[in-house]
Amino acid sequence: MKGELLGKRILLGVSGGIAVYKACDLVRKLKKEGADLRVVLTTGAEEFVKPTLFSALSGAPCYTNKDFFTADGRIPHVELARFPDLILLVPATASLISKLRCGQSSELLLAILLATKAQVFIFPSMNATMYNHPAVQENLSTLKTFGYKVFPPYAGELACGEVGEGRLPEPDEINEVVKAFFKPKDLVERKILITAGPTKEYLDEVRFITNASTGRMGYLIAKEVYARGGEVYLIWGKDDEPEFPNLEPLHGIPKPRVYRVKTTEEMYLACENLFDEIDVCIFAGAPTDFKPKQTFPGKIKKEAKESLTLELVQTVDIAKALQKKRKNQYMVGFALEEEAKLEVYAKKKLLDKGFDLIVANPISTMGSKASKFLILGETGHKAFESLSKEELAKELVDLISQNLKLRAS
Ligand SMILES: Cc1cc2nc3c(=O)[nH]c(=O)nc-3n(C[C@H](O)[C@H](O)[C@H](O)COP(=O)(O)O)c2cc1C
Repeated sequence: MKGELLGKRILLGVSGGIAVYKACDLVRKLKKEGADLRVVLTTGAEEFVKPTLFSALSGAPCYTNKDFFTADGRIPHVELARFPDLILLVPATASLISKLRCGQSSELLLAILLATKAQVFIFPSMNATMYNHPAVQENLSTLKTFGYKVFPPYAGELACGEVGEGRLPEPDEINEVVKAFFKPKDLVERKILITAGPTKEYLDEVRFITNASTGRMGYLIAKEVYARGGEVYLIWGKDDEPEFPNLEPLHGIPKPRVYRVKTTEEMYLACENLFDEIDVCIFAGAPTDFKPKQTFPGKIKKEAKESLTLELVQTVDIAKALQKKRKNQYMVGFALEEEAKLEVYAKKKLLDKGFDLIVANPISTMGSKASKFLILGETGHKAFESLSKEELAKELVDLISQNLKLRAS
C-alpha cells in the first residue's frame, strides 16, 4: 500500500455529536493513506453508531467502554495510550471537552487521554450557542495551555438549523491537517513566493487569450510548503479560490496569502511588490507570453468588423525582469517543452534565466495525472519517469529545503 501516512499510528476518539458521520468518512481517508488506526467510542458516541461500523471501515478493532475493564491481565487504556503517534478527537463534544479539562477518567477514552504521551488534536463540534458558552470557551483555552491543539469549528449552517460557529471541518481537511503534522517543519520562517495558473490577455473587456494551465502544480507546491511551515505568498491566475486547511494550531503556521491576478503584467507587479522580502521564488505559473498590441474598450461589435487581424506583442518575462532586482533569492523555474528536446531546452532556460533549479516536463503533462519530470540545477540532475504532481511537489520542496540548508552552511 502507498500513502503519506504509511506506518503512522493514529487513535481516533469519537464522542456523541451529530458530526459522527464525518468521522466515518475520515476513517476511510486515513486508511487509504496507509494509517494504522484504532477507534475508541465514548458512551455518547454509542448512542449514534455501533463499533462494527468503525471496525469495518478501519480494518482494525474499535473499542467501547465494554473494553475498559477486562479480566485477562491486560490494561487496555494503558496499552491504547502507548499505541498512537497522534490522537484525534473527532468530533469532540462539549461534554468530552469538559471532562478532559477536569482530568476525569471515568471512560476508556478519557483514561487513554490522561495516560498518553501522544499529541492530541481536538476538533470541537456543536451548536453555535453551546460552542460560544463561556464554560466551553474557558475549557478549550485551558486545554490549549496543557498542550492540546484545538482546531476551531467553522461558521455555517448547523445540523440543528442554527447558523454560526460549530461545524466540524470536512474529513478531507482533517486528513490534510494530519498529513501536515507528520511532515518536517523545515521551512519555518522562510518566505516563499509561488506563481500558479494561467494569465489572460484582453482584446476587449470580455475577450481574452490564455492557455490551458490548471494552476494545480503551483497549488500543490504551495500546499507542501505550507504544511512544512513556510510562509506562502501565492500569486494566483485562476478564477476559483484555492483552499488550504487550517494549520494555524500547528506551530502557529500562517495561512497562505493569495494574490489574485488576471494579466501577466499584474502577475509581475504582484511578484515585484513582494520580491525584496522573499527567500524563495517558484515560478510554477503559466503567464501568457503574448498580448494583443491594442485593446478595445467595451465589447467589439461583430457588425462593426468584417474581419479582425490581431497583432500580438510579448508580455513581460517575469523571471527575467526579477533577475535584475535579485539579491539572495533562491529561484526555481518550470519548463514545459517538447519531449524530444526536454533536457536541451531546460538547460538553456536554466542558464538564460539564472534559475537555481529548473523542473522540465513534456507538453503531455498538461491535464495528465502523472508525467515524466527532470529537475536540473547546480546540485545535480534528477530524472523521474512517472510522478504524480503531488509527488513532484514533495520531491521539489525536499530539494529546495536541502539546497537552502547547504547554502546556509
Ligand atoms: C441528537 C443529538 C445531537 C447532539 N449533538 C451534539 C453535538 O453536535 N455536540 C455536542 O457537544 N453535543 C451533542 N449532543 C449532546 C451529547 O450527545 C451529550 O452531551 C452526550 O452526553 C455526550 O457524550 P460523550 O461526551 O460521552 O460523547 C447531542 C445530543 C443529541 C441527543
